[in-house]
Amino acid sequence: DASEARAIVEPRIATIPDFPEPGILFRDLTPVFADGPAFHALSESLTLPFAGRFDVLAGVEARGFLLAAAGSVLAGTGVLPVRKAGKLPRKVLTEEYALEYGTAALEVHEGELPPGTRVLIVDDVLATGGTVGAAARLVERAGWEVVGVSVAIELEGLGGRAALPDGLEVYSLLQY
Ligand code: PRP
Repeated sequence: DASEARAIVEPRIATIPDFPEPGILFRDLTPVFADGPAFHALSESLTLPFAGRFDVLAGVEARGFLLAAAGSVLAGTGVLPVRKAGKLPRKVLTEEYALEYGTAALEVHEGELPPGTRVLIVDDVLATGGTVGAAARLVERAGWEVVGVSVAIELEGLGGRAALPDGLEVYSLLQY
């Protein structure tokens, strides 16, 4: 369950001051990914609150890919890679989101999933919410249904949850 997952995951998160810039406290999940039982527990914990309610996991490039891929294999579903702009070869939908300086964009292929497919969006960290907000808009514009957002870590001071649409179900295993 979630408390068992927290107990194995949390001690393996590395916390690095002043990365990538002075004043930022970076939460690094690579030691969790490197540990078999911790990676399994984390990947499973992100899908359990939505069990039976999704058809596909959508993972946001790049770290979200790891969790969505593992979680989808455990759940027996497919995975939708939500990619940074310019990577996908066929006709795409594009959504921009704000960065600290400038904007970035995420893309999915049009028609990749059947209309009405129930999609759970997965990422490693929810910070300002810009990234998963753009992913959610993409899924809706593509004609699929966002059933929720599931992240390993929620940085509560950055207001990501409040920046997402009202009524969107958001789960985080750990909060800082
Ligand atoms: C990081 C992280 C989330 C996002 C969270 O990704 O993996 O996707 O930022 O921030 P937000 O809630 O403020 O949007 P990043 O853009 O650094 O990409 P990466 O996974 O490719 O390193």
